[in-house]
Amino acid sequence: MTTIESPTAAASGASASRAVRDATARHGQAATSQERLDTVARAVLGAVHDVIREHQVTYPEFQAAKRWLMALGESGEWPLFLDVFVEHVVEQVAAESQQGTVGSIEGPYFLPGQARLPAVCTLPMRDDEPGTPLVFAGQVRALDGTPLADAEIDIWQNAADGFYSGFAPHLPDGLLRGVVTTDGDGRFEVTTILPAPYQIPTDGPTGTLIENADWHPWRPAHLHLMVRAEGHRTVTTQLYFTGGEYLDDDVANAVKDDLVLDPAPGSDGRLRVEYDFVLERA
Ligand code: DHB
Ligand code: FE
Repeated sequence: MTTIESPTAAASGASASRAVRDATARHGQAATSQERLDTVARAVLGAVHDVIREHQVTYPEFQAAKRWLMALGESGEWPLFLDVFVEHVVEQVAAESQQGTVGSIEGPYFLPGQARLPAVCTLPMRDDEPGTPLVFAGQVRALDGTPLADAEIDIWQNAADGFYSGFAPHLPDGLLRGVVTTDGDGRFEVTTILPAPYQIPTDGPTGTLIENADWHPWRPAHLHLMVRAEGHRTVTTQLYFTGGEYLDDDVANAVKDDLVLDPAPGSDGRLRVEYDFVLERA
């Protein structure tokens, strides 16, 4: 069923596809060499051939796979599918050569150019925004411990109903998104709400796969963060919350122990959690 509370996979997919095209327009298209393309493309095809041999895949199964891949493309779901089922391994490989705060996947819902906010701020929300208030505070530092003033913490998260602004027509643009600038001591304190567990859209081909294979479509509740500072490598990561559902069973496989936080009531009674980011030099 398509209601205003449940945006379709097609609409989410189309928005996510547009975001990929916009990012390509902004940053250009990174090229790879012919040699590298030859190596990687051959290896991908070889891995598929191996699966067919190992599992004795039949003609009817091959045709079903073709139909499903056609539907995935026609419905614009490739970005959602790749970010859920593939990106975590690309991120793990990148992380092997990185120091500082551990990363996690970006996912399909980052949007650039959000509201710029001071170090102590509240993310854009509606009056009476549903959800549990949360204060998220910390410091951005270099590897050697130097505080990084004027660092930017780009934050995006879902609303209590599980949806992301910009990808769900019933939510105002810019809701629960912002770019926070750290103070002279690298610190920040952002008031927001606890994000909700997230269900990837299930009404398209990705949902069909999940249902027919008897998997589940859920990610644990998470904050998305992209932390930038002059002269340092940008960190893209996510933060999770202890005790939440799907932490051990994330459909996108993107939880890391270091990124699971334990919020507790602060002196004013609101839930508070602290996390410091550490950036390596670019
Ligand atoms: C997807 C959505 C997310 O919010 C996320 O963090 C990762 C993946 C997705 O629907 O593909
Ligand atoms: Fe997400």
